[in-house]
Amino acid sequence: MIPKINTLSGYLYEYQKSVTNPEAFWENIAQSFYWRKKWDKVLEWDFVNLDVKWFVNGKLNITENIFEKNLFIFGDKPAIVWEPNNPSEPGVTLTYRQLYEKVCQFANVLVQNGVKKGDRVCIYMPMVPEAAVAMLACARIGAVHSVVFAGFSANSLADRINDAEVRVVLTSDGNFRGPKSIPVKAVVDEALESCPLVDRVIVLKRTSMAVTMKPGRDVWWHDAVRGVPADNKATEMDAEDNLFVLYTSGSTGKPKGVVHTTGGYMVYTAYTFANVFQYDSDDVYFCTADVGWVTGHSYIVYGPLLNGATVVMFEGVPNYPGVDRFWDIIEKHKVTHFYTAPTALRSLMGYGTEPIERHDLRSLKVLGSVGEPINEEAWQWYYTHVGKGNCPIVDTWWQTETGGIMVSPIAGVTPTKPAYATLPLPGVQLMIVDNEGNELKGNNVEGNLCIKFPWPGMLRTTYGDHQRCINTYFATYKGLYFTGDGVKRDADGYYRILGRVDDVINVSGHRLGTAEVENAINSHPLVLESAVVGFPHDVKGQGIYAYVVLDAASKTHDPEKIKDSLLAAVTKVIGPIAKPDKIQVVSGLPKTRSGKIMRRILRKIAEGDATSLGDTSTLLDPGVVQEIIGGALVRVKA
Ligand code: WTA
Repeated sequence: MIPKINTLSGYLYEYQKSVTNPEAFWENIAQSFYWRKKWDKVLEWDFVNLDVKWFVNGKLNITENIFEKNLFIFGDKPAIVWEPNNPSEPGVTLTYRQLYEKVCQFANVLVQNGVKKGDRVCIYMPMVPEAAVAMLACARIGAVHSVVFAGFSANSLADRINDAEVRVVLTSDGNFRGPKSIPVKAVVDEALESCPLVDRVIVLKRTSMAVTMKPGRDVWWHDAVRGVPADNKATEMDAEDNLFVLYTSGSTGKPKGVVHTTGGYMVYTAYTFANVFQYDSDDVYFCTADVGWVTGHSYIVYGPLLNGATVVMFEGVPNYPGVDRFWDIIEKHKVTHFYTAPTALRSLMGYGTEPIERHDLRSLKVLGSVGEPINEEAWQWYYTHVGKGNCPIVDTWWQTETGGIMVSPIAGVTPTKPAYATLPLPGVQLMIVDNEGNELKGNNVEGNLCIKFPWPGMLRTTYGDHQRCINTYFATYKGLYFTGDGVKRDADGYYRILGRVDDVINVSGHRLGTAEVENAINSHPLVLESAVVGFPHDVKGQGIYAYVVLDAASKTHDPEKIKDSLLAAVTKVIGPIAKPDKIQVVSGLPKTRSGKIMRRILRKIAEGDATSLGDTSTLLDPGVVQEIIGGALVRVKA
């Protein structure tokens, strides 16, 4: 059993233990798992060259810890309760034993298709149980999964496939999303035109829409599994063997493949799930994330399943067929734990409380929030109307890179405060620094959030480029992991995350690099250059504001058409999630004499705060700023 904290003094005691002797603390947690061979040493680490190893020389397979370890206790318990996009379609429930058999069978399919330990497999699939089966089947044979959110464009998918040198892709014909059927296989086909290494695509039939199957390369999932045995002996993995790679956006360049390894990630996701949510064996846990993001990896698949939890997996969207869909699912499946993103809450708040009142939500015990700062109004609405004042909210701060939750209340244990992620979990040693890297000690301070000691779930590298990982996370402040987030520690020592301090914007809980969006806009033939910043958005948290300089040839084009084609360019290069909310055509961008774009100024203008632009004297052409302030804005419908 994973040790669980159940009182505030218990938390303080465990936290203290985890700081005074982290090795002993984590070793004790790791004992709750099944290891084929125990580790020789708990931890080796170096934050300067980034070399971190947990449970050194330990041998295990993470799926044995989900299945074999527990099947005799809860083999007949539902593992995944799948709720389809359209509620009139029957759902699917897979018990642990049924899931185990599907995972073993698909593991055998992967082996038959030449996938070996260490090979990367790309998963580009809708929210169906087979997506989880695919991930776990990879883990079973030691293949490294790279799940790509199925809303990304062919270009983005191709970049990720090529970066990770993927040979096998798992996908579906299409995807149901609200009232729409979205082509998925067609996007894969387009991507694969520029992915010469891929020689096998396994396609799940979901929508039955027409697709082209390339002979010799593409096979149907149902054909591939036919007659394949449902037993498979798990491959032995080293604790530090790669489990998965997951691409995420940063300040510069293309998205990076964040690499997580097996042993530490297992211990960390399982421990944090058990403690933060205080999951009990009869509870039903519903996380609304997509498996394409880290929340789906750590808190739909690995963390809950390692705890033997019943997980509700939802294919659709919050407003289909009605804006009460979440509440309907909670009532139908008697959900006890509900974990969602503030952006979903803010969009549902707009419909008032009547859709909630239509449903019996008395099963709820714990509410969770993830992905972006939750504003006080949304927090209060969630607490009062969804939780009826009876359910603690766990505002969980973490990142793709951290693998699991880092700062969060422990449900029912840590006193909460609206908009505060509250306190670090055991094993998490935070440090707030100023821009020069000096530690800001004591309470009532605000600065950059860093972490000074390793935790088992942390990233180990970025795929194919270790130096980039060091430069991105460990070089800004020597010897520290820099999160990219701003933070405040208040008078009570509670942490409030203030949002990104780098060039990353968080749109509806999705991370996007401003440089990435600029590159997409710049791919348009009429664009000379562009600058993208975030601005506060009532529902999305942050919206995307693009300043665009057009070529003289644009004069002969209809501005509306240009706007549409700019949006199309972004959709093509990244995907619809990156479409700007506002576009302003400008004759030039404010730049320093050395040619650097002054984003600080553009951010202020985008926020509608042009009165406090600060020092503009270093600008090459200060006149440009006045022109931008007075300029017309092309609003883009969201
Ligand atoms: C933001 C998502 C405030 C933060 C798990 C972080 C949050 C980025 C919270 C990581 C929260 C996530 N409060 N901000 N509870 N959770 N963030 O990698 O800016 O998609 O750096 O991981 O989301 O986003 P990612």
